[in-house]
Amino acid sequence: MITSSRKKEHLDICCNEDIVAGRTGFDDVRLVHNALPECNMDAVELGVRFLNHRLKAPICIAAMTGGHPDTREINATLATAAEEFGLAMGVGSQRAALENPEMEDSFSVVREHAPNAFLCGNLGIIQLRDNGAEWADKAVEMIDAQALCIHLNPLQEAIQPEGDHDASGCLDALQELCSSCKYPVIVKETGCGISRECARQLFAAGASAVDVGGLGGTSWAAVEQYRAENFRQEALGQHFAEWGIPTAVSVVEASRAGGPVIATGGLNSGTDVAKAIALGASLGGIALALLRPAMQGYQSLYEKIEQIQTEIRVSCFLTGSKNPSELKNVRKYITGISGEMMQYEE
Ligand SMILES: Cc1cc2nc3c(=O)[nH]c(=O)nc-3n(C[C@H](O)[C@H](O)[C@H](O)COP(=O)(O)O)c2cc1C
Repeated sequence: MITSSRKKEHLDICCNEDIVAGRTGFDDVRLVHNALPECNMDAVELGVRFLNHRLKAPICIAAMTGGHPDTREINATLATAAEEFGLAMGVGSQRAALENPEMEDSFSVVREHAPNAFLCGNLGIIQLRDNGAEWADKAVEMIDAQALCIHLNPLQEAIQPEGDHDASGCLDALQELCSSCKYPVIVKETGCGISRECARQLFAAGASAVDVGGLGGTSWAAVEQYRAENFRQEALGQHFAEWGIPTAVSVVEASRAGGPVIATGGLNSGTDVAKAIALGASLGGIALALLRPAMQGYQSLYEKIEQIQTEIRVSCFLTGSKNPSELKNVRKYITGISGEMMQYEE
């Protein structure tokens, strides 16, 4: 029940408070304009293949919620959009339902509303280490998922009052899961980014994809500031709110590790998605920027996704790209601190 009420608290804080911190770096990235696109904007094909599945657009509704009765409706709304737009979608950590099966319904509702969508289960790496592959399998079965996301959140664990400070043994647990499971495992950060070294370790352990979850969007240090039990915890959250690798930089780092990369962390528009793909990502992941419209109702969410899709289409057209994959060949100007950070790449 503690996990469940925490999930609800997180959702309320994310909807109502200012919890965005740092910069994604996408402001430092410009796709070079092509004044002679030589393609038909209306014929731009937004569909992509990801982990052997066809998505109708390079967008993932990133893991957010479930695990409390009040989260059922929001998961249903998000899943309806995933189905209608042919997107990938993750659910929030399924720990609450693995601890208390009464909560399963707030997760399984996504499959009811998205019978054909690419759905990802979700479990923290600490819970994987402590409970083994059995929990991972149950999480996948619960929503009949195509893949499982294992989330990494050391910053949040360090800051939150009930956080687990021992992160040892996690890589071994991941390796064990990947060597035995029949589904693809996507390893995701949740707001601090993934370095090239870390991405290499994850792919070597058997991860099928990495979601960078970089800095510049939802900050869990900022979220935990609102849950702090005393002044010291609050000050710690504030101090680390801008810790991490900006999403744009992390995409460049992780995509050099050789496997597919999802760019999540502060994406808010189709041009952000297009820039992320041009930097090496396969998909753009979006959490907060879809959560807030979804809370207003399906129509607001529908309009937001439609707008993002149109912005991806226009970005493709203005760079002479017939599809999102061709964005990878587009020349970019990369300036400012992001440009400097990317120079530290080999
Ligand atoms: C309300 C909320 C709850 C979240 N819960 C989870 C979670 O349970 N598991 C997880 O892997 N990520 C979770 N995330 C992190 C997101 O999947 C994403 O990595 C992060 O929010 C950065 O994306 P954004 O800037 O678009 O929000 C959550 C995000 C939000 C906003």
